[in-house]
Formats: sequence, structure tokens, C-alpha cells
Amino acid sequence: MERYNEIKQQYDNYYRYYLKRQSASQKIGLIELKYEHSYRVADFAVKIAEQEKLNPVTLELSAIAGLLHDIGRFEQVDRYGTLDDLISVDHGNFGEEVLQRTGFLNQLLPEEQNSVLFAVRVHNKRAITQFTDSLSECLAKIVRDADKLDVFRVMHYNMLKGSEPQKQAVFLNLTPSNGISTDVLQLITQRMLVSKELVKTTTDFKLMQLSWIFDFNFRSSRAIVRSSEHYRFLLDDFSKCVEQKEIVDIFEQYLNSITL
Ligand SMILES: [Fe+2]
Repeated sequence: MERYNEIKQQYDNYYRYYLKRQSASQKIGLIELKYEHSYRVADFAVKIAEQEKLNPVTLELSAIAGLLHDIGRFEQVDRYGTLDDLISVDHGNFGEEVLQRTGFLNQLLPEEQNSVLFAVRVHNKRAITQFTDSLSECLAKIVRDADKLDVFRVMHYNMLKGSEPQKQAVFLNLTPSNGISTDVLQLITQRMLVSKELVKTTTDFKLMQLSWIFDFNFRSSRAIVRSSEHYRFLLDDFSKCVEQKEIVDIFEQYLNSITL
């Protein structure tokens, strides 16, 4: 993991640079949140790569792609003060651009660089149907799973301990409500991904994040989420909704049917 360790140092310096530039506590909070999230994603990426018995080079590249997947977030927060891509920039595309104009990937072979760039660019896209090569496909799938796995922790933490402005930012300033939009519930019932455009309430938002479970690529990711306290916390939170039993049954049945 020699190359990963060097990139880690560069990454820490890059983070400190953006942290020091901020005076608003909300921006500082968002930058810290993304810094911690990126390390967790790198750890999850390694965990998946290990459990899937991938070779050491792919494992190291998974860690690198995991750590750098949200690199665009720092400049996004610095420039626009938001994590909402719809009103700022697509942070996957932007992250790729940041990596291209900085030296983060200099030590990697050209094909490895391309695969990491690809994984960073597509990590936040709704669905990916085309892959140029097997390494790009593998890294993209690992990062997407690892990212989703940590989102449950971020949500849990914020719902319990986040300051009001931080909660609002994480929930994209949506109106707090236990109501669920018809379109959102319908997609969940069909075990399909919920897109951001359909999200109207904070409960819709939680369901959108839970719907990512339907998109996991690896068996090990499903097993990890199934035993996660953060996933449990999110499910329990639906006790405030009339549709709770229906929702819990859908996710539990889905995970039970595919992790056996
Ligand atoms: Fe992201």
C-alpha cells in the first residue's frame, strides 16, 4: 500500500488547505464531514476487495479510488457552499477534473490513472451501463458500493448529533416531514432506485438513500449493510411513518433473499 500511503499524505494536505480557507462554520462542517467520509469509503473499499479476494494491486487501487472519490467536494463547498450538485456542479465530473489538474495520480500507471478517474467520475451517477475495461469496471463498482455503505453512517450521525444547519445541508434543505411521495413509494415497492428529482421530503430522501441497497454490486456489500447498526437506525426511523411495516419488509426480504 506504498502508493496509497503517499496519496493519503497529499490528500491530508489538500484537505487542510481547503479547511483553512473557510471562516463559515457550516462550510467547515461540510469539509470535515467529507474528509471523514472519504476515509471510511477507502476502508469499506478495502473490506470489499478483501472479501471478494481481489489481487493486491486492485486492492490498493480500490483504496485510492475510495479515498479520492469525493475530492471534488472540497472545492464545491469552497466555491458554492453546498453539497447539492443540482445547484452547483456534478461533483463526480468535478472530482475527475480536480484529479487531472493536481498531481494526486502521478505515481500510477496510465491505465490505472484512467480507471481511478473513471471510478471517481461515475461514482455518483444513477446507473452505469458501459465500461471500457475490467479494472475500470471493478473500481467503479467497489467505490459505488463503499460510498453507499458509508452514507448510512453519515445519515445516522447527522440525525442524532448534527447541528441544525448541518442537518439542513445533509438533507438538501428539504422540508422535514414524515410524508412519503407516491412516486418514491412506488419505486421502493418495485425495488428500484429512487432518483433525486423525485425527492420532496426528508423521508423521501431517506428512502432514496435506502433504495441504493438495490444497486449493490457485490455480495459482501449486501452482507456488510445487513449487519450495520446505521442501516438498522434508518429503518427504525420509519416508525414515524404509516408505511413503516411495508418499507421494512421490502428491505429485509430483499437482503435476506440475496445474502443467503
Ligand atoms: Fe460522492
